[in-house]
Amino acid sequence: MRSSWGRQVVYSIFGESHGTGIGITIHHLPSGFKPDFDRIRSELDRRKPGTGIHATSRKETDEYEIISGVLNGTLTGAPLTLFFPNSDTRSKDYLNLAVTPRPSHADYTAHIKYDGFNDGRGGGHFSGRLTAPMVFAGALVTQLLEKLGVSIGSRISRMGLVEDYPQTLDERLINRIASGELKALTLPFLSEDAREDANTLLTHLRKKGDSIGGQIELCITGVPVGWGEPIFDSLESSISHLMFSVPGVKAIEFGAGTEFAKMKGSEANDPWIQKEGHIETTTNHSGGINGGISNGMPLQFKVTFRPISSISIPQKTVNLETGRAEILEVKGRHDPCIVPRACPVVEAVTAIALLEAMLDQQIQEKEVWR
Ligand SMILES: Cc1cc2nc3c(=O)[nH]c(=O)nc-3n(C[C@H](O)[C@H](O)[C@H](O)COP(=O)(O)O)c2cc1C
Repeated sequence: MRSSWGRQVVYSIFGESHGTGIGITIHHLPSGFKPDFDRIRSELDRRKPGTGIHATSRKETDEYEIISGVLNGTLTGAPLTLFFPNSDTRSKDYLNLAVTPRPSHADYTAHIKYDGFNDGRGGGHFSGRLTAPMVFAGALVTQLLEKLGVSIGSRISRMGLVEDYPQTLDERLINRIASGELKALTLPFLSEDAREDANTLLTHLRKKGDSIGGQIELCITGVPVGWGEPIFDSLESSISHLMFSVPGVKAIEFGAGTEFAKMKGSEANDPWIQKEGHIETTTNHSGGINGGISNGMPLQFKVTFRPISSISIPQKTVNLETGRAEILEVKGRHDPCIVPRACPVVEAVTAIALLEAMLDQQIQEKEVWR
């Protein structure tokens, strides 16, 4: 497994859900930067299990140890390595999944790919727990981006049939989301009604032992014109690449996304205007990106998560040892919906993609070449 990403700053994630622990090594961070570790802690708390009323009751505190790369609270420039020990594991809940794979989880594909040698306990390297190091890395590089005026935020736009309002956001709502105003909410919808409806839905699903999918919309302000490296590292490509590294993500749509299929050019095009000395657009159907390059408007995109496969409702599976059909009832502690806990994760990987694009752009701008 490679589990590494990045050309400028390089991220490498290791560990398994029920092994000794998990962690990350980050190469090429700038020396001399003093991260605000309290703010990183609060991002980890948004993701960690056992906090929201509907979250899994697995009590991982997501405490971590810094192994290298930080001295007196300041980055040294050496690879930053971080270790999160695993504590609240109940591997017996997962013993049967090695031979009777959960429908639509990675149990079967990983078993075949790694000849059964993979550690499948608790989902192993495919567990949602591996998103804790992603959140650490993203929360750290977000602080670098903030120095340039970039703000990243998200809202839940849909959970099952519960929809947040409105589907097309005006400038005021985009700024509210990007400012991180919703971060304190366990169900970060803009609409209070949607929060209540989602609460009722989740209570019902928990009783039934079922799960539900959902969608998160990201809004990012302060990205200047010019970030993104066509052709293969266009801003959409990098963001999507990282988004699909988050387990459970099944779709991403930029701007009007799949709605473009219904639109005419005269409806879809974002007209350019001069406003207070700079150029912007009157609408943002493009989601702030043209030709793989940021156009100076807020970045807007929606990420769709599948319902998690670990449900206690009986499901059909095949016993890989006997080849016989079996009925599986998943034990263990699972969220009926991972979308609320996934908000800090998708914000984090967005920050990682944007930092890469910013560093690529800095190389373009080096006066020394001209
Ligand atoms: C924060 C987070 C927590 C997750 N928790 C669970 C879980 O408890 N049970 C589960 O079946 N899937 C969970 N998932 C999703 C699975 O890890 C994912 O569906 C699985 O690895 C298969 O990958 P795929 O859905 O991308 O194909 C979680 C994902 C995230 C982002």
